[in-house]
Amino acid sequence: MRPHNLNGMSMRYNAAITALGGYVPDTVLSNKDLEHMVDTNSEWIVSRTGIEERRIVNDVNLATSDMVTKAVQNLLESAKMQPEEIECLIVSTSTPDYIMVSTASVVCDKAGLINAWGVDSNAACSGFLYALTLGASLIESGRYKNVIVVGADQNSSIINYEDRNTCILFGDGAGAVLLEQTIEDVGIVDNVFKTDGTGREHLIVLAGGSQNPSTLDTVNNKQNFISQNGRVVFKAAIEGMSDTCLSIFERNELEAKDITWMIPHQANLRIINAVGEKLGLTEDQVKVNIQRYGNTTAGTIPLCLWEYKNDFKPGDNILLTAFGAGFSWGATYLRWAKLRG
Ligand code: UT7
Repeated sequence: MRPHNLNGMSMRYNAAITALGGYVPDTVLSNKDLEHMVDTNSEWIVSRTGIEERRIVNDVNLATSDMVTKAVQNLLESAKMQPEEIECLIVSTSTPDYIMVSTASVVCDKAGLINAWGVDSNAACSGFLYALTLGASLIESGRYKNVIVVGADQNSSIINYEDRNTCILFGDGAGAVLLEQTIEDVGIVDNVFKTDGTGREHLIVLAGGSQNPSTLDTVNNKQNFISQNGRVVFKAAIEGMSDTCLSIFERNELEAKDITWMIPHQANLRIINAVGEKLGLTEDQVKVNIQRYGNTTAGTIPLCLWEYKNDFKPGDNILLTAFGAGFSWGATYLRWAKLRG
């Protein structure tokens, strides 16, 4: 039941980010390393993507849940909270530990979230944004006081390191945010999300699911790896991210100057710059860490929030935007809250 105040009126709750955590593996895969693996060169990669290096999990015994567990532990430490205080965990990933058994279940065990229920959600590179809105809705309903939302991907488990079209782009990492109930005028304000399944063929892992279960043939034909039509995705990403951000501007009567920071999905620096220009933002307003981590799929936005959290002040207007497989894309507008700890 929705809680009431003393006058019997229904209370309105906002969902605010009050703590952050992150984790990237220690192993660096540099552009120079890739030069020895495929026909590419560092200059091409930097000028076409902005990526200088990425991190990869370099241990066959580790999975996405291990990165998520570390990010959640890092968050709890900075929030000065115990694992048993957490009520819900949403993990957005397209590289789950298993097809059956959610990564969130594994993390509830590994991180000791004994009072939380956990669920995965998957919308590829847009996954964190979608999951953030799902988590915020649980809190806004008044039924939950806190939810951890994580975006994480171990892309190295689905990358063909003989395919120069994809192996230069992706890395591994996990970012986590704590959403908490507040009655202050901060937190998630609005979102505009789109899904267009007709774009699915352009960025996809063809095998391993119920449409094409893994067989010797799918493995030999490299269908268990990411395949991408880069040019189509590039164009659609700029258009989709810009359009949804502009809808956010219109719906909330915002102009470029009202945005303190934009944190875009980190897939390609040229995409980020093009979206920033279309919105009329200056480079100083846009947060970028693609040079260090590449595209960590659902991990990019929370990792960027985590890395730059000391730059954000309570009341800052923050715009998040992403585009990814599906196609799925969108933008979220939030007002920064005071962090715990
Ligand atoms: O996370 C959301 C999903 N992903 C994205 O948003 C990624 C979107 N796409 C992109 O970022 C870009 O399309 C790429 C970075 C993947 C490719 O950049 P591009 O400027 O679109 O290059 P292209 O595919 O048009 O290829 C240009 C040339 C080609 O050679 P020719 O045909 O001009 O002789 C490619 O064969 O560059 C060649 N090329 C490479 N050369 C060196 C493609 N990949 C490489 C490479 N190293 N790794």
